[in-house]
Parts: sequence; C-alpha cells; structure tokens
Amino acid sequence: MAYEVIIPAAGQGKRMGAGKNKLLLELKGIPVFIHTLQVFERDEKCDGIVLAISPQDEEEFNILLKEHQIKKIKAIVYGGKERQDSVYHGLEAAGSEGIILVHDAARPFIDVPTIHKSVHVANEYGAAVVAVPVKDTIKRVLYDEVVETVDRSSLWAIQTPQAFRISILKEAHQHAKDTGFLGTDEASLVERIQHPVKIVEGSYDNIKLTTKEDLYFAEAILKKMKGDT
Ligand code: CTP
Ligand code: MG
Repeated sequence: MAYEVIIPAAGQGKRMGAGKNKLLLELKGIPVFIHTLQVFERDEKCDGIVLAISPQDEEEFNILLKEHQIKKIKAIVYGGKERQDSVYHGLEAAGSEGIILVHDAARPFIDVPTIHKSVHVANEYGAAVVAVPVKDTIKRVLYDEVVETVDRSSLWAIQTPQAFRISILKEAHQHAKDTGFLGTDEASLVERIQHPVKIVEGSYDNIKLTTKEDLYFAEAILKKMKGDT
C-alpha cells in the first residue's frame, strides 16, 4: 500500500555538538539525512517525501538533494521552533487522504519491511508506532533516591516511523495546537484525541543519532548492513 512521508530535518543538533546540523555529518561519505532519504527514494511504495528544513540549511540541502538524485521530494517546508511545529508545517503540504508517515531524518537505519509493517497496521487501526522492548532495568528516581522499579515487561522505547491515517494525524495536530500541548512524538498527540495507537516491533539498529557516541554505533551498523568486514 502506498504512503507519503514527512521527514523533520529542521533541528539544530545541539546535543551532537558538531557546530552545525548533525544531519550534514557524513557516514561513509554520505550525509546522514541523505542516507535516510535514500531509503524512501528506493522504496517503490513511497509516493512522496515532504522535507522540513531550516532556512539556514536550505542552500546546502538543495545542493545535496540534487547531487544524490533524490527525486521524490514533493515539498520542502520550513521547520518551526519545536519538532512538532516542523511536522505541522509538513502536514500542510501533505496529501489529504491515505497513509502518512513521520520519520526522523536522524534515523538513517530504518528498514523497508518495518516501514511497510507500520503502513499496514496504520491502514487497519489508524495509528501505528515503531518501537522496541526496553532492555535496561528502569527505576523511577526522585532527588537521587530510587522510588520504585518500573515493571519492564510493559515498557517500549518508541522510535519512528510513526504511521497514521492522515485525517487522524491532522485532527491530533490541530487539537494539540488548539490546546497548547507539546509532545515529543506524534503518537502522544493522537493519544490525546483518544485514538488507540498500535505498536509495531522494529529493530534496535534503528537508532536516532543524538550524541557523539551514536556516531560510533552508526559506523558499526552501517558496516553490518553493507556486509563489510
Ligand atoms: N527537528 C525538526 N525541527 C525541530 C527540531 C527537530 O525538524 N524544531 C528534527 C531533527 O532535525 C531530527 C528530528 O526532528 O531529524 C529529531 O530531533 P532531534 O534528534 O532532537 O534533533 P535536533 O533537535 O536537531 O537535536 P538536538 O535536540 O540535540 O538539538
Ligand atoms: Mg531536538
């Protein structure tokens, strides 16, 4: 089943501390956001990409999109202050029916089967998020003291893509805007309009490049994916 994808790429990458948008850092000579876009460019089920960028990155991004022959870009919009604002701007440029995905530009290792699974579940249930079971023991802590150990069996680490029937995502974003709610992902907005969100089990490789250490993991994952030794 076909889908469109909104890719928020308008952050500043402050935690990476690279002095520029972390999405411009290269892995094997290719910028991070191009790695991400190539996955969707090559997936025949992807009908169009809406990319949210910062005005200061526009020139460089445009050159790189051309150089790497990314042709499925349907619209480039400016992002906003928060990730949620960037996705909201992207939604305005997206189609009016069908399935829409939101996928962080900073997650270059997403695989196509997981994308398709999320599309399928969203088509059936309206909303689906890719996630993995939490591996660590998690404790709730207050002022350096453990309050409780949280039961891990019900905890999932939420990733992207997050997939929705577009009418649901639009309603959820509008509701969040009207009520001044700021969430860290799309699903949290959908939860607030009381729509159930299904989990799609993904992969631990689908990391978000956030801090410098993640670059070492990224090199290792890339090596594994390309079958290098
Ligand atoms: N993003 C966005 N608009 C924002 C903030 C973030 O489009 N106002 C995008 C980022 O470019 C990234 C994704 O949302 O692809 C996930 O955000 P995050 O990992 O937090 O990236 P940054 O916000 O760039 O990093 P930091 O929070 O460390 O500054
Ligand atoms: Mg951020």
